[in-house]
Amino acid sequence: MVVLDKLSDNHLMNTFRWINDPHLSKMFLFKRQVTWEDHIRWYQKYLKDESQEVYAISYNSDHVGNIGLKEIDVLDRSAETWIYLGQDVPKRKGIGYGAYLELFRLIRSEGCIDKLCCHIALFNQASISLYKKVGFENVSQIEETKHHVGNGEIVKMEIML
Ligand SMILES: CC(C)(COP(=O)(O)OP(=O)(O)OC[C@H]1O[C@@H](n2cnc3c(N)ncnc32)[C@H](O)[C@@H]1OP(=O)(O)O)[C@@H](O)C(=O)NCCC(=O)NCCS
Repeated sequence: MVVLDKLSDNHLMNTFRWINDPHLSKMFLFKRQVTWEDHIRWYQKYLKDESQEVYAISYNSDHVGNIGLKEIDVLDRSAETWIYLGQDVPKRKGIGYGAYLELFRLIRSEGCIDKLCCHIALFNQASISLYKKVGFENVSQIEETKHHVGNGEIVKMEIML
């Protein structure tokens, strides 16, 4: 069973391990390793940042990944979303799919956001398929975003909730 909980201190160690994983860095087009001090600084800033929301994904009570919203724009009623599971977590068990169904349920119950987008590296076909399966549609293909520069083409996808 997939459960989402707001990111808290208990989730920081796993998150630190995952964001420095070379496979995930490649998928997210991250350019550098994060130190523990960077990570704590990010978390303290995140706690005060109303434009982001991060949820820990639990599967059968284990913390297996994170899913989130960034660029939350309450006037435009929109946000950008992302997800990752730990490298050692079994894939193709429906966890990513279940996490999105749960995220959509939370967003709908709060009633502040109508539109989500995501930016995915074109080579990341697993994620593109996941987003299609939960209902996102391609809107454009672009070279880079302000967060992820270079290293290939990016697909922008959107869903109306
Ligand atoms: C993308 C990711 C979250 C998928 O998680 P998951 O739990 O394995 O996905 P699910 O089992 O819920 O699969 C749902 C659908 O996604 C697609 N999918 C998932 N993995 C796939 C793969 N390796 N190849 C092709 N399609 C895949 C399929 O359409 C699948 O549905 P199906 O099994 O009925 O065919 C996971 O692979 C991951 O963490 N990847 C690295 C991080 C990343 O790239 N994040 C996206 C950037 S925002």
